[in-house]
Amino acid sequence: MEILRRPREMQAWADFQRAPGRRVGLVPTMGDLHEGHVSLVRIAREQGCDVVAATIFVNPTQFGPGEDYERYPRDEERDLLILKGAGTAAVYLPGVHDMYPEGYQTFVEVGEVSRGLCGAARPGHFRGVATVVAKLFHVGKPHVAVFGEKDYQQLAVIRRMVRDLDLDIEVVAAPTVREADGLAMSSRNKYLEEGDRKAARCLSRGLFLARNLFLEGERDPMRVAAAARAAIEAEGRAALEYVEARDPETLRPLAGPSNRMTILVAAHVGPARLIDNITLQGGETA
Ligand code: PAF
Repeated sequence: MEILRRPREMQAWADFQRAPGRRVGLVPTMGDLHEGHVSLVRIAREQGCDVVAATIFVNPTQFGPGEDYERYPRDEERDLLILKGAGTAAVYLPGVHDMYPEGYQTFVEVGEVSRGLCGAARPGHFRGVATVVAKLFHVGKPHVAVFGEKDYQQLAVIRRMVRDLDLDIEVVAAPTVREADGLAMSSRNKYLEEGDRKAARCLSRGLFLARNLFLEGERDPMRVAAAARAAIEAEGRAALEYVEARDPETLRPLAGPSNRMTILVAAHVGPARLIDNITLQGGETA
């Protein structure tokens, strides 16, 4: 597995892979890898990628003041072992000054889909995400890039950016990987002490209750979302930020009953801000 730290090294690796016609997959991450990330590498391969590169970079521009940039878990050695075990061909680990050299002043701003939901509570977050992902795409030159559905709005923002900027990259969504009790896997789960960890189940519990209601035939987005809201509000340790039922593609609010909706939730549990979502379709979930 090749370790690349400079943008030029990553570009040279990508050019070398693409020259003989290899299909390149890219899995951007902020490190602190878990099973969810391993599934992204696997899915890249299942998409027909001959080689998969991962990136590890805790991106300062997507963290707001007072957020967890400084304490975001970093363990390069462990991450590299995990990626090697997953069959990753190369890992790009740029430093902050490689990504944002002195005088840096270029940003990618995706419009409407970046606003509301997490964008409301984290102004500038998706500008930072879109910028860093665009930069990673330019050095990694992938045919396919895989992102987890857990960060549903992020995925929608990246898809929009790829369409709007005519990037020749297939964006693939990977299903959320959950702990046995339903909690969506996230690096931020590490911030939870025992009581908070139990309480954090209220997010997935709420989403599964919403799904049950939908499966029983409820199509009113407000009522479906209300089932999730009730479960989270009933948990004393959780401070609900939002529960919304939205159009799965545009993330716009739904005007009335719908056979397709994504329920998105965000809540603070102890020191962690947690997000989760579920997409409901016809009589089934997707
Ligand atoms: O989802 C993440 O880990 C990050 O937001 C990403 C896409 C790697 C950009 O920094």
